[in-house]
Amino acid sequence: MRLLVLGGSSFVGRALVEEGLARGWAVATFNRGTRPAGDADVEAIVGDRLVPADLRPLAARDWDVVVDTWSGIPRAVRDSASVLARRAERYALVSSASVYAPPPPVDGDEHAPKVTASPDAEEGDYPERKRGAELALHAAFGERALAARAGTILGPRENVGRLPWWLARIARGGAVLAPGPRDLPLQFVDARDLARWLLDAAAAGRSGPYNVASRRGHATMGALLDACVAATASDAELVWMPPGFLAHQAIEPWSELPIWIPPDHPFIGLLAIGVERVHAAGLRTRPFEQTVADTWGWMAGFDELPPPTESTNPVGLAPERERQVLAAWRAYA
Ligand SMILES: NC(=O)c1ccc[n+]([C@@H]2O[C@H](COP(=O)([O-])OP(=O)(O)OC[C@H]3O[C@@H](n4cnc5c(N)ncnc54)[C@H](OP(=O)(O)O)[C@@H]3O)[C@@H](O)[C@H]2O)c1
Repeated sequence: MRLLVLGGSSFVGRALVEEGLARGWAVATFNRGTRPAGDADVEAIVGDRLVPADLRPLAARDWDVVVDTWSGIPRAVRDSASVLARRAERYALVSSASVYAPPPPVDGDEHAPKVTASPDAEEGDYPERKRGAELALHAAFGERALAARAGTILGPRENVGRLPWWLARIARGGAVLAPGPRDLPLQFVDARDLARWLLDAAAAGRSGPYNVASRRGHATMGALLDACVAATASDAELVWMPPGFLAHQAIEPWSELPIWIPPDHPFIGLLAIGVERVHAAGLRTRPFEQTVADTWGWMAGFDELPPPTESTNPVGLAPERERQVLAAWRAYA
């Protein structure tokens, strides 16, 4: 199999490359080459996909599977899909459950209403860009297009910094603000499981949109943070606080406390995506303890975490804010 990964050098793209190589596929990447090439067995095609002329080499041969990790303006996908339409058997896009019109539906399937978007857009917020890219791909590839609408993606090399923030905080030890309830059901997908499923699905000729995440409750908030304590061998004391108290303290779910959304929050659907279709299509999700331990193993190679590359909004609670909220909790509880 000849696999072309558009992107391929940061997080999900690296997982796709490694999965392809592990299968013995011939793997090529296309990116600007700003990060070191991951593996000598990968053919690195260098170019800027926002420059249409740079896409020409991609159309010089045939591909069995193209996977695209793009999250920028949709016309980049429009242009690459149009160049590859006659050369590639199948084109899969790493899309996002953010394409659903807010608030995200609880247990919504792939038919849930989407945000309005254009495949030709030169701007737009993240949901509009992801949806515009889906539309651009569908216009060029029709039934040969696959869109993996991923929920929260975690795992080694995570480039938003959600699980890395929790691991780094818990590794520092001491009293750690832990957002309750402990039994809050979580839903996410390890990038390596996403990559494995995507390549399986593309090779099997699957098409159309699939929400891709674990089942809801794959982990709980309590179990995830316990796994962070175990992985880092930390002396951290998790100080559990109810959502109402945290709301009173004006703590921002999701951004200040990554991965956490309180049960009655309008965006709880981000942790409750309907995933029947993808599980029926063979998604296998590894134990979350492995995701946590492997992410910590990856982080252990750094004195300081590399800055997140995917999101411009930093995630995580400032230490001073955490101290204030812990003090307020002690005074209250
Ligand atoms: N994190 C989550 O929870 C989450 C949830 C749902 C969906 N998603 C989606 O998952 C995907 C994650 O992607 P990733 O960052 O992990 O992918 P990646 O393929 O590992 O990294 C992004 C690639 O894009 C390349 N790139 C950037 N600008 C480029 C340009 N102008 N021309 C050519 N290549 C360019 C980068 O290389 P160069 O910079 O060297 O060009 C890099 O190889 C995104 O589509 C995101 O929307 C994420």
